[in-house]
Amino acid sequence: MKTIDPRQYEHIVFFTGAGMSAESGVPTYRGRGGLWSQYRWEEYACEDAFAGDPKKVLKFHELRRAAVLACQPHAGHAAIATLEKQHPRVMVVTQNIDGMHQRAGSGNVIELHGSLWRLRCPDDGISGDIGAKYKGWKCEKCGSWLRPDIVWFGDILDQGVMSAAIAAIRRCDLFVSIGTSGVVYPAAGFPRFAKENHARCIEINPEANEMSSLYDESLRDTAGRALPELFVQF
Ligand code: APR
Repeated sequence: MKTIDPRQYEHIVFFTGAGMSAESGVPTYRGRGGLWSQYRWEEYACEDAFAGDPKKVLKFHELRRAAVLACQPHAGHAAIATLEKQHPRVMVVTQNIDGMHQRAGSGNVIELHGSLWRLRCPDDGISGDIGAKYKGWKCEKCGSWLRPDIVWFGDILDQGVMSAAIAAIRRCDLFVSIGTSGVVYPAAGFPRFAKENHARCIEINPEANEMSSLYDESLRDTAGRALPELFVQF
């Protein structure tokens, strides 16, 4: 594929999934070595699991925090962050909770599935910190268990976050999807919004999946290799 001149596009959206972080060493969810082949999400990633055994769920998320902190953003993350500095309307819509885009320097990031770096109290709102361990497992004000501010299985996505993501995607004229298996809705339906706006749609994923036929072009390569070469330098 020829390189793309980003100046030809008004609004560019990068839509990322676990495959974006895979080359940094963060495991994907599905496929070989995927998190859900090692851990049952029913025990670690749903409201019932948290209600039944909050300590077990919080410990699991602390392990994930430690694992993510040991990883570094790669050249693909850097390419997106650099483009955001050169182009006024670049947006990342991510299903990832690991904060890698922000660590690479991206500022316009919509986190659809929440963040590993935040906790929320049912009464006293959201707190955030970065470190392998959470600062505390219970709210200092009311003593409630703090819940990872993550969209787990069975949760409803935050409506404000959803609306912002859909608005960005409906507006874009270049949509680049990277490293998502396209099976978890509603995010899996997002490429259709870009198509409805006649955006040029590009997929970066070493493997094809059910959504691949929606894209105008598919790069069967990894995020870390394909992204730095995708755009002309200006
Ligand atoms: N570069 C690009 N894509 C890659 C790479 C890579 N280096 N390595 C793997 N992939 C692709 C895989 O081929 C797969 O299609 O990344 C995709 C990862 O798919 P999933 O593990 O299903 O991740 P994702 O689509 O982000 O999952 C969606 O499911 O469990 C939930 O909430 C969790 O946000 C997650 C959601």
